[in-house]
Amino acid sequence: MKPQLKIFLYLALLVVTAQADPLKHALKSRRTYQALYSRDADELVSVNVTNCVCGYYIPETKQTFTHHITLNPSALNSSDLTTALYKQGWIVSDRDQTSTPKNIKYTPSNLKYNSNTKALELTVSGGSSSRGSIPSAEISTIMDKILYGSFRFDVRVSSVAGACSGMFFYKDDNHEIDIEILTSHIHNTTTQPDGVPKPGVQLTVQPLTKTQVLSNYRVVPFDGRFDPTKGYHEYRFDWLKSGVKYIIDGSAYGTYTRFIPKTAGQVLINNWSNGNPYWPAGPPLQNSILSVRSVDIYFNTTDTKETANWNAACKKASSKKICNVPKSKSG
Ligand SMILES: *[C@@H]1O[C@H](CO)[C@@H](O)[C@H](O)[C@H]1NC(C)=O
Ligand SMILES: *[C@@H]1O[C@H](CO)[C@@H](O)[C@H](O)[C@H]1NC(C)=O
Ligand SMILES: *[C@@H]1O[C@H](CO)[C@@H](O)[C@H](O)[C@H]1NC(C)=O
Ligand SMILES: *[C@@H]1O[C@H](CO)[C@@H](O)[C@H](O)[C@H]1NC(C)=O
Ligand SMILES: *[C@@H]1O[C@H](CO)[C@@H](O)[C@H](O)[C@H]1NC(C)=O
Repeated sequence: MKPQLKIFLYLALLVVTAQADPLKHALKSRRTYQALYSRDADELVSVNVTNCVCGYYIPETKQTFTHHITLNPSALNSSDLTTALYKQGWIVSDRDQTSTPKNIKYTPSNLKYNSNTKALELTVSGGSSSRGSIPSAEISTIMDKILYGSFRFDVRVSSVAGACSGMFFYKDDNHEIDIEILTSHIHNTTTQPDGVPKPGVQLTVQPLTKTQVLSNYRVVPFDGRFDPTKGYHEYRFDWLKSGVKYIIDGSAYGTYTRFIPKTAGQVLINNWSNGNPYWPAGPPLQNSILSVRSVDIYFNTTDTKETANWNAACKKASSKKICNVPKSKSG
């Protein structure tokens, strides 16, 4: 890889990581929400401790995780989508993010439940390229003490160019595990100039440094495998102490073993554009919609109260039920 390309990618990826930066501040102001699972537990459709009371076993990695967060869009047919999502363990972003060359406006109105497709849609609004701010959409888990697990997103991306659809673990820019699809770079057989991401699924484990070999950034081409804009596909990563393994529709897409985060954080799904010509290009001229059919996150937590509750519930249960997690949902 040419050094200029490395620097270009480094700079381009810095832009990407910057997208999540103000999150810390945004979340601090939300601390008035109750903790997930504890007091509110019986209201949460996604949590039923009687079911898999002693955890979730992932056969591929031979790991048992204590907790499970889902996103089940069929339970989101509600006039109050923000509350319906909150009950499943998700916060809807409502914030302006300064970005270059255009700002990003994460707005709840760019999030919709589509009752025909039974999917949650995250939209990047289409419109003129002279806009100063691009309406975009984002959700994040209320749970912000996720450490290791199996993370699965059953989604379809838009064929409208100019958006970045991201599904990722985030603590800060140095502790991040990304799956990103740039709708401008899905299929393109033209040779790309330096700095323009290659077409395919963009898989990154942060941090990235200027000097390190970019072994933790890869693009896996879709061509010949599947078209992410047609039908739903399951994008997954399994994060353990020893590494991060990417899996799509049940097939291995690569394993990273360097710079693996060892810090707890949260999971985000977003769809955005800032018009940066390298990443993600755009902004889109028409609405670009990311459709989410389901999310399943099996994880351990560093939240001592959650862990204590889990231990007590498992100990007390008459049948020590550990659920086997199926390999893949999608087809
Ligand atoms: C939780 O699971 C148990 C066992 O399958 C079931 O009897 C119970 O109704 C479930 N509770 C909720 C709130 O879904
Ligand atoms: C997750 O927690 C369970 C229960 O404490 C433990 O047995 C398991 O080893 C943990 N997994 C990882 C990857 O830390
Ligand atoms: C969604 O809710 C509306 C109004 O409550 C109802 O008429 C409609 O049948 C529901 N659709 C689905 C797919 O559940
Ligand atoms: C393909 O890539 C070339 C070079 O970057 C670009 O000029 C062209 O617009 C791209 N085509 C599509 C359909 O995105
Ligand atoms: C993201 O935005 C693009 C462009 O507006 C859209 O086509 C795509 O469906 C959106 N992706 C998601 C997951 O909502």
